[in-house]
Formats: sequence, structure tokens, C-alpha cells
Amino acid sequence: MIDILASPDLVALRAADVITEGLVSLCGGTLGLATGATMLQIYARLVDRFRSGTISFCEVTFFNLDEYIGIPRTATGSFRTFMHRCFFDLVDVDPARAHLPDGMSSDVSSEALRYEALIRASGGIDLQLLGIGSNGHIGFNEPGSDFGSRTREVLLTEATRVANAPYFAKGAEVPHRAVTMGIGTILESRKILLIATGKHKAEAISAALSGPLSTACPASALRRHPNVHIICDAAAASHIVGCVAVQTQ
Ligand code: F6R
Repeated sequence: MIDILASPDLVALRAADVITEGLVSLCGGTLGLATGATMLQIYARLVDRFRSGTISFCEVTFFNLDEYIGIPRTATGSFRTFMHRCFFDLVDVDPARAHLPDGMSSDVSSEALRYEALIRASGGIDLQLLGIGSNGHIGFNEPGSDFGSRTREVLLTEATRVANAPYFAKGAEVPHRAVTMGIGTILESRKILLIATGKHKAEAISAALSGPLSTACPASALRRHPNVHIICDAAAASHIVGCVAVQTQ
């Protein structure tokens, strides 16, 4: 299913609706989380709903997609810091249920196995929230990632490091490596919610939906999943072949 909405604000509202409905119907459940600019408004809308009493997160288990390798979890640019600042510290999340891969582990392969085992032990992910890189990455699965890949250490492309530079004092501080859920891990989620806003995502969205099913566009793997809901704004949808209907509310 694809919803195309007029603005990023409407995208965030719709995404918050889908997440809220999913979690309320599960009386908790397991939510996979992403970081990045696209997610900021979505977390803000979820915080609004918590404050208005529409939803509680205390029974929800969270698994973030990825974390940088080699920076402390409290560092300004870490994904854990992002999550605490934008969401975890603003709602009633149980800290024991808020999981990110440990990017400071001295043994990343073991950490990746531990993370996969933890996801399995929690019953798997009910709803996985995803952004998309301009190069088609999902999580930090850069082009070339195998569709069956599992949680593992990856090397970030220069484009991804540049896109994430605003979260660091200097661009050179953006780590080169990260640990990410694999595409195979992501595809095991029961439902996937992919969000894209802005013209700079238009090519990636078009390639994901109608380009070759190829590791050159990691997000094209989502076509192998039976339950993907895409929500984009008109700018991100502008290159979708055959896209005529634009919803405005
Ligand atoms: C982040 C992640 C990435 C981002 C993607 C889009 O946890 O997994 O795949 O979702 O890079 O980032 P923004 O929203 O900053 O354009």
C-alpha cells in the first residue's frame, strides 16, 4: 500500500496513526525503530499522542535498526543519543525494553548474533519503521548488501557519512563503520512501514518500487515482503512511474 500525501507534516501524522493503531491493537508489541531527519516529526507526533493520553509505550519493546561502531553510546552523534533526545526520554518507554546494537562492543560479530537472538526471543518485530537513503539503503544496508543479510558490521558509503554529518561537530567525526540489522532481518518483520519525504528521495523510491529487484537498490528487496506500507510526500513520490493520484489529506 502506498499513501502519497502533500507534505512531510501529513506524512508524519499518517505514520503516527499507523504506529499507534498497530501498537494499541497489539496491547504493546515490538516496534523496530529508525533514526534520521525523516523520523523527527514522526517521533514528535508520537510524543504528542503520549502526552494527550492516546497511547502508552510502557509495554512496547523497541529494537533500533542500527548504531555506529566506535563512538560511546552517550556521544552526541550516536543513535542511542538521538533516540533518547527525540523519543525515549519524552515518553514512558521502559529502558529495559529499548534496544540498540552495542557499537562499542569489542566483538561486533558476537554482538550482532546477540542482537538477532534478542529479537527472536522477543517474538520478532511486529512493525518495523524504515527510512530510505538517497542511495536506496535501508537500515545501514548500503548498495550491494545481500537480500538475505543478517545483523552485521558494515562500511558506510561517503554519501551516507555526508548525509549524517549534521549530527556531529565535524564531518570527519562521522564513523566509517556501523552495525545494522540485515535486509534478511528486516524482511522477517511482520509489517514494514517505509517513510520518505523530500525530492532527494524521489529516485530511491522510484528505484525501490519499479527498478530492477537488485542489491544495487537495497530497498527493492521490500518487494519480497507481503506487508509493506509506504508513506511518502508528493516530492518523494514525484518519480514513481504511473503515479497519478496524489492525496492531499
Ligand atoms: C537510520 C537508518 C537509515 C535512515 C536513512 C534516511 O537508523 O537506518 O536508513 O533511515 O538514512 O535518513 P534521513 O531520514 O536522515 O534521510
